[in-house]
Amino acid sequence: MFKKIEKESFYYGSTVVLMTTKDVQSKADNITVISSTWTLDKTIVVGLGLDNKGFLNLKVGSEATFNVANGNIWEKIERVAKTTGNSEIPTYKRKAGYKYCSDKFSLGGFTKIRGEEVQTVRIKECPIQIETIITDIAIRDSFAIIESKIKGILVDEQILYDDSHIDVNKWDPLIYKFREYISANQSLGTNFRFQEFKK
Ligand SMILES: Cc1cc2nc3c(=O)[nH]c(=O)nc-3n(C[C@H](O)[C@H](O)[C@H](O)COP(=O)(O)O)c2cc1C
Repeated sequence: MFKKIEKESFYYGSTVVLMTTKDVQSKADNITVISSTWTLDKTIVVGLGLDNKGFLNLKVGSEATFNVANGNIWEKIERVAKTTGNSEIPTYKRKAGYKYCSDKFSLGGFTKIRGEEVQTVRIKECPIQIETIITDIAIRDSFAIIESKIKGILVDEQILYDDSHIDVNKWDPLIYKFREYISANQSLGTNFRFQEFKK
């Protein structure tokens, strides 16, 4: 038997990504924790709340880096989770206990690395970093769908088998499942087009 349910948010299980953007005026770097992302070919698509500092930065800037989180940094992420880089905190967020934070790198203990293809910084603690240029912003009621062209993918050598293949045993993407952080590193099998390295 199946039961029809109603839910305001529906986080059935997606990868946690730390989006870095830059304030074009102050040059301050911001981190926006997101999980609504997908990639196809050279494009990454993300869903962003309209009052997030990350979105405000993207509206006037054109670059973003998507730092894909490994399971071992979930506590750092949770440390910045209840903050926003937007100094004008919307009422619903204030009620939920969100605080303004001008430097989430210090708060979470994240290390900045200079961007290679774009100005937005990379996060050292994230083994996969995707540098992008925004190509389209579609506004919906309370969120925007951002389409971004992938300009560069940087991968920590520690999870590489060779120059172009990931050692999948060493990559443990952090999953957000109904607001719980989950490690995804249990192999059930591989797809018929599997192309990476696996012992
Ligand atoms: C694990 C996790 C996933 C999240 N996913 C999203 C998301 O996909 N899109 C979004 O707009 N906010 C998402 N949020 C909420 C934002 O991180 C939150 O609104 C934050 O204050 C935004 O930061 P900013 O205002 O500095 O950009 C997520 C939060 C967490 C902890």
